[in-house]
Amino acid sequence: MSKTNAKDSGFTLTDNQTGKTWEFEGHTGSMKNRLIDIRSLYSTTGILTYDPGFTSTAACKSDITYIDGQKGILLHRGYPIEDLAEHSDYMEVCYLLLYGNLPSPEQKASFDMEIRHHTWLHEQLARFYQGFMRSAHPMAIMVGVVGALSAFYHDSTDINDPEQRQLAAHRIIAKMPNIGACAYKYSLGRPFPTPINSHTYSENLLQMMFSHTSEEYKVNPILAKAVDRLLILHADHEQNASTSTVRLAGSSGANPYACIASGIASLWGPAHGGANEAVLNMLDEIGSIANVKKYIAKAQDKEDPFRLMGFGHRVYKNYDPRAKVMQKSCHEVLSTLGIDDPRLELAMRLEEIALSDDYFLEKKLFPNVDFYSGIVMKALGFPTSMFTVMFAIGRSVGWIAHWKEMLGDGEQKIGRPRQFYTGHAKRKYTPVGSRGHTPNKVSWSWLWRGNKKNAKPKDGNQKPALAEKG
Ligand code: ACO
Repeated sequence: MSKTNAKDSGFTLTDNQTGKTWEFEGHTGSMKNRLIDIRSLYSTTGILTYDPGFTSTAACKSDITYIDGQKGILLHRGYPIEDLAEHSDYMEVCYLLLYGNLPSPEQKASFDMEIRHHTWLHEQLARFYQGFMRSAHPMAIMVGVVGALSAFYHDSTDINDPEQRQLAAHRIIAKMPNIGACAYKYSLGRPFPTPINSHTYSENLLQMMFSHTSEEYKVNPILAKAVDRLLILHADHEQNASTSTVRLAGSSGANPYACIASGIASLWGPAHGGANEAVLNMLDEIGSIANVKKYIAKAQDKEDPFRLMGFGHRVYKNYDPRAKVMQKSCHEVLSTLGIDDPRLELAMRLEEIALSDDYFLEKKLFPNVDFYSGIVMKALGFPTSMFTVMFAIGRSVGWIAHWKEMLGDGEQKIGRPRQFYTGHAKRKYTPVGSRGHTPNKVSWSWLWRGNKKNAKPKDGNQKPALAEKG
């Protein structure tokens, strides 16, 4: 593939207050995508850009993943996600994301073997789990245990050594299913699993999650294929919240295990990787097809915090291509297992009604990958609390590929966003004894809620004087 990043004719910025103009370089990327290079904006003009949520800001250059949200296109290293989900396996996609090209048969066999030989957990790490409550959410355990890997593998935390970086990358990909399976087994009070080297990555994942020490566990190849596809579909999605978190953490030189733990923490939120769990909870709350219209109306009501989980995406303003593959996979898994899950019928009806509703059409809200992945994982036997763990396992390679790319990019520096200050101008300090008194009982809840959108004091709970711009 020929990659291009050509300087183009550039851009002129005019300050309408003074009439002053400045020239900025423009670049055209390999997909005819364009950008304005504003790196020198602040130093030459003293003016900042304002872009909460980074909706118009590229924080890096990347060769890994391309998304065209308007057309519903997702390419990894140039290959359409549909082709990878159909013909590849997760290990091959990992290789592709990490090393830039599809592997030769020898490279693939060698990579498979390398990952298989890093799946074990240190005995001491296994003891680490004992510190958690049995009822802890597995994502809470994942954040802690993956972060703790840096305390076990001192031989792979020097980020300036490419060998150590690679070792850390392989260890993380290899150990994530085992760490996730142990979190699950721990919550059940069952013995920790042992990886089996003759299994593929996805077979091992199923085996470690669902086998019992006292019984032989035969992996169903159709279910292993479904798991593999699920991992492929979650492998990378360019600069989403968790990947950006990993890059930001890594930009300070933090060790790779700490960076991946920060990505897991970010992924957990219901607006990101926690959405698959939230979809199932939502379907249970809706309960039956008769209630769908009521919930569609709730989702449109600005006063109601309810949103259709699994709908909408920051980048896709068309169908999420991963959701299409996942929908197909969902039907395959349910028919293979002979499961007649009423939630699937409910999900399909919800999708049908939402896709013909003006609100969703106007706002371009389509099902995202999480809309169907929850149903697939439920059918495969995963409890809802493990859904985001599965997402984290699949996404670990994407996080690592971006971390690796960032460390090799000479233009990257420590991430440090600026802010547009809107607070008080400089003011005189008054000692506490000389300040006015609060007329009513101090309301901590109001002080806390005072900065939030839509925050209203409860009846009779007046905003205290001290809360003013405090
Ligand atoms: N249900 C109802 N209304 C919605 C939904 C939804 N799921 N998503 C967005 N909207 C509305 C918003 O209220 C907003 O309306 P407004 O313009 O009248 O204020 C408009 O659509 C735009 O929404 P934003 O929240 O501004 O869009 P943003 O790009 O910031 O958020 C997000 C994207 C977070 C994914 C959002 O669509 C959402 O919360 N979806 C549900 C959670 C979900 O499924 N997350 C998974 C994302 S995919 C992933 O992480 C793998």
